[in-house]
Amino acid sequence: MMKLPLFLLLISLVTQTSLSEVTISVTPTTLQKSGDIVTISWSNVDSPSKLDWLGLYSPPDSPHDHFIGYKFLSSSPSWKSGSGSISLPITNLRSNYSFRIFHWTESEINPKLHDHDHNPLPGTAHLLAESDVAVFEPGHGPEQIHLAYTDVEDEMRVMFVVGDGEERSVEVGREGRGVEPRECGTCGEDLKKGVRYYYQVGSDSKGWSTTRSFVSRNGDSDETIAFLFGDMGTSTPYATFIRTQDESIATMKWILRDIEAIGDKHAFISHIGDISYARGYSWLWDHFFTQVEPVASKVPYHVCIGNHEYDWPLQPWKPDWAYAVYGTDGGGECGVPYSLKFNMPGNSSESTGTRAPATRNLYYSFDTGAVHFVYISTETNFVSGSSQYNFIKQDLESVNRSKTPFVVVQGHRPMYTSSNENRDAPMRNKMLEHLEPLFTKNNVTLALWGHVHRYERFCPVNNFICGSTWKGFPVHAVIGMAGQDWQPIWEPRADHPNDPIFPQPAMSMYRGGEFGYTKLVATKEKLTLTYVGNHDGQIHDMVEILASGEVLSGDDSFGVDGGARTGVVDSTFSWYVKGASVLVLGVFVGYILGYASFSMKKNGNRPSWTPVKSEET
Ligand SMILES: [Fe+2]
Repeated sequence: MMKLPLFLLLISLVTQTSLSEVTISVTPTTLQKSGDIVTISWSNVDSPSKLDWLGLYSPPDSPHDHFIGYKFLSSSPSWKSGSGSISLPITNLRSNYSFRIFHWTESEINPKLHDHDHNPLPGTAHLLAESDVAVFEPGHGPEQIHLAYTDVEDEMRVMFVVGDGEERSVEVGREGRGVEPRECGTCGEDLKKGVRYYYQVGSDSKGWSTTRSFVSRNGDSDETIAFLFGDMGTSTPYATFIRTQDESIATMKWILRDIEAIGDKHAFISHIGDISYARGYSWLWDHFFTQVEPVASKVPYHVCIGNHEYDWPLQPWKPDWAYAVYGTDGGGECGVPYSLKFNMPGNSSESTGTRAPATRNLYYSFDTGAVHFVYISTETNFVSGSSQYNFIKQDLESVNRSKTPFVVVQGHRPMYTSSNENRDAPMRNKMLEHLEPLFTKNNVTLALWGHVHRYERFCPVNNFICGSTWKGFPVHAVIGMAGQDWQPIWEPRADHPNDPIFPQPAMSMYRGGEFGYTKLVATKEKLTLTYVGNHDGQIHDMVEILASGEVLSGDDSFGVDGGARTGVVDSTFSWYVKGASVLVLGVFVGYILGYASFSMKKNGNRPSWTPVKSEET
């Protein structure tokens, strides 16, 4: 009777012996900057399973189940032989990395351990090998460089990350550092208008970044260019336990194309909330800033706060009506990384109610060219009597319309959306009650929102009624289609079997089904907003708004019902939209294609909806 346990023990010893022979190596072990490629090689894996996996650890001594990401060894073509290699770029987290390989089989899948998308998370019971440590050596200059306007028109703010607390400087010149160097602390000052400046950040003892450049703001210019979107997030080159946003790669790719195409014209970025989706995992902020750096080190990167930067049960302002609106979407960040990693104009500030730093970058405004841009916070108090309300009122009332004939307001949660999500209905009602009168009274031209992860453009609207001009009837657009893929395009209604998708109301002029971004171009005569789809980099919708107040948009055949849209006249440029792409047949076709592509992406070719959840967790 004792033989069986002894037999098992022997098996176990044999297994242990064979496991100890597994080798793993990482090359190089010394890295210079984010994006450097490491290659992890292994050999002697006995009886390889297609679920055997490679874990990334930073710090390198993290517990087994604290991996920041993983890749299956089966992604290496030779995995069945027990040997293979995986190469991937890694981000400088100002902490070293180690790599471990584990044996894992389908019978060990624990359904209780899964990621946001309900993929099982890999088991850590059978460590096969652990690599040496890979180190980011110091001396290669700051990373995650990003620009922003300050309150002074001839300044540019440069922000960056270093692994120590020591001082760095910015050297700015017309020709590049060393040719015309100037030290100026953390911002370019006294910049000439509309000129390309070259800059580097760092120090002689700690190393310098590579040379970057930007074109300074030009208040005299008659052309304003901006790229605007919400809800983009970031992408990691490995699977992880929290949802990331692979579409963010395409969004940045096309915007970089557009920035390079405009040459020496000035432009800026507007990312209106739900920025990195780090939700408390700081390494994802590092990924985000590394990913956007090619764009954000060239043009100012402006933001407003979203629920995923902030919301938490103990947030200081949480009125009764917002009980379901404000949940746990911030993952405990409570606006702290948002407030420290960005430094926007203005001096808005709300106490966190704790020892954590105050929440900043909540509401501010600036002019570029012919447009006055206003950024607001839907996550903190905006109702009548609040400091934010007072700011918005005073700001909108004091715009010099002869200098900036157009006013664009941006915030995270939409005032209008036909996704009609129930959770945010009280929020929409409060925005309509308190903010819409300010917008209409002060002739806001355009209101841009995120949060709903699709593009939707409305007629010039006031209190759900379409007008013919933006004077008193701002054009609203939802632009949260830059990366996050959570919601179905429009809310399915299981209890409406004959009309299962929330119908497109007459005031909704275009609902897009593709990821993408918007581009705004304005002169003193005309503001044009276009929607570019990530799937082809082409324009799929456009609205033109004249300084006279007239609003032009795609012609009436774009309507889902084929009928006229109240108060909207045909665009003389609608041929451009018509000729631009396969989606030109209109919103209905775009909607169907979007539906199909969304479903295919999610479910292979199975056309079914992902159920709507009341809250992202
Ligand atoms: Fe959101």
